[in-house]
Amino acid sequence: MNRPFDTERLRLRPFREDEGEAWHAIWGDPDVIWWGANESLEQSRSVLQRLVRREREEWPDGLGWLAVREQGGDEIVGDVLLQPAQFVDGIEVGWHFRKHVWNRGYATEAARGTIEQAFATRVCDEVHALVALQNEPSLRVAAKLGMQAVKEIEYADLPHRMFVRHASEA
Ligand SMILES: CC(C)(COP(=O)(O)OP(=O)(O)OC[C@H]1O[C@@H](n2cnc3c(N)ncnc32)[C@H](O)[C@@H]1OP(=O)(O)O)[C@@H](O)C(=O)NCCC(=O)NCCS
Repeated sequence: MNRPFDTERLRLRPFREDEGEAWHAIWGDPDVIWWGANESLEQSRSVLQRLVRREREEWPDGLGWLAVREQGGDEIVGDVLLQPAQFVDGIEVGWHFRKHVWNRGYATEAARGTIEQAFATRVCDEVHALVALQNEPSLRVAAKLGMQAVKEIEYADLPHRMFVRHASEA
């Protein structure tokens, strides 16, 4: 996703290579990245650099990792990704938010805006998501996004539900 955009309460724009600290505040928190948080700021910095470079050099236009801020706020409170899916031939959407902003509806609002933007700009005409069955908050996000459950698969040694949403259903 190359262009910044706003939702009702949030502002989304591409993550930059030099935002390792903000990245680490999300990806270094084991309460957020419960399946395996980064152990150090250095690790987070290098993961983000690799990601941003791959996004720039390898991915089709319109895909990427978005930093999410509240309108009027400077702090990056979460991310939404739109990237080549790792579990199916297609595009996946994903979301991760800092704990102090959970339960405000931000994940749903940010992911919905990202999907709508992707469909409106014809980046893709369907998006997938993969959510661990134990991750009830994210299963609810997928449902609120109007995503349909397709099937259950084992991924990273955990049972997951795969979801899809087609642009024609928007
Ligand atoms: C999963 C996660 C992203 C959810 O974030 P969130 O912003 O709290 O999720 P939601 O958008 O669903 O909002 C949560 C609640 O806020 C409530 N809410 C409060 N104020 C609201 C408002 N003004 N508008 C909308 N919803 C509001 C909603 O009712 C919702 O309740 P529900 O879960 O019963 O539907 C967050 O828990 C997280 O980052 N988890 C760890 C990372 C992760 O698991 N990522 C997904 C990997 S697949």
